[in-house]
Amino acid sequence: MNSIATNVLNIFNNKFSSQPNVYYSPGRINLIGEHIDYNDGYVMPAAIDKGVYYAVAVNGTSTINFFAADFNEGLSVSVAEIKKMDGWKNYVLSVLNEFVLLGKTIGGFDCVFGGDIPRGSGMSSSAAVEGGLAYALNDIFNFGLNRVELALLCQRAEHNFPGVNCGIMDMYASINGKKDHVILLDCKNITHEYFPLQLSGHKIVLLNTKVHHTLASGEYNVRRKRCEEGMVVLKKELNVQSFREIKSAADVELHKDKMTPEVYNCCKFVVEEIARTQKAAALLQQNDLKGFGQLMYACHEGLSKLYDVSCPESDFLVLLAAGNENVVGARQMGGGFGGCTINIIKEEAIEDFIAETTAAYKKQFSIEIEAYVMELSNGTEKISS
Ligand code: GLA
Repeated sequence: MNSIATNVLNIFNNKFSSQPNVYYSPGRINLIGEHIDYNDGYVMPAAIDKGVYYAVAVNGTSTINFFAADFNEGLSVSVAEIKKMDGWKNYVLSVLNEFVLLGKTIGGFDCVFGGDIPRGSGMSSSAAVEGGLAYALNDIFNFGLNRVELALLCQRAEHNFPGVNCGIMDMYASINGKKDHVILLDCKNITHEYFPLQLSGHKIVLLNTKVHHTLASGEYNVRRKRCEEGMVVLKKELNVQSFREIKSAADVELHKDKMTPEVYNCCKFVVEEIARTQKAAALLQQNDLKGFGQLMYACHEGLSKLYDVSCPESDFLVLLAAGNENVVGARQMGGGFGGCTINIIKEEAIEDFIAETTAAYKKQFSIEIEAYVMELSNGTEKISS
């Protein structure tokens, strides 16, 4: 167990007398396929070595005791009292609520959790919190849900109390990750395949802009609405059921005059990004890193100009990366409006690249970026019992 897991376990042992299991629930990166998980696309995420650790044990009472180590704050509730609350409480309570809605009987338990995913970084700390708890409860109460059912439960949990109408990518990747592998997730059929990430002398580096522009979740829901609005037109005009069936952005353009400019731009992006991700998956499997990197830049361009979810800080970092011959590709990652950029960089150039970028970014925005060299991990798992 690493130091975070040990800390969570120590806190648990100081607070409670029950005997816990310890679980790891990872954050995720996404190589490509942004904002298309809720548009029937394909996405290419992977679970990472940053995540949330849970110590959880049945306590034989009817009380549920949570302690969030990162907030140094506790919460005790009975099942009858589960309702919407603020901050971290919303995420754990919403998961409990989903089990109740499935008719599952939750008994009393003790729970301490904490982790190392920087908040607002686009690495999906919320999915890691939700997935870790769902997995642990499924285990200690023998609910019998499989990993896909758990991911879907967590997606509903995120929609419900926190109110973010997210797609399935984050929780699916967190729960189903495989060490050193990327997941190619088909978000329409909710199925996946793995392939090994071979970057021949390169590594994935995340650069944290350290900005997370406010109203990000509100803006996220707005983007989702725009796509739904566009789909109403496209279903009728193109006789399709889903974005996946639209052959090219030219087909969307034929009906531009029937949509607002914002709706049109979102639909154009979605159709292009679905095609781009399929192409990117093929290139990565053929070890064509250069081709793959070009598609990452194209994705960023679309996120920035069409989907309108980037910001000056992310654009600045991607532009710097594009001007550096040792970076094969870069783009903003996740929901948007800041968070991290994902970069594929030649190993021996990583140190210099981080130093140069840190200095330039600081000069421009007076903010010190954080950089993380990523390793891919297994999905949610029990690490001790
Ligand atoms: C957030 C959401 C995901 C996905 C990404 C954008 O991370 O939770 O479902 O839509 O944004 O790709």
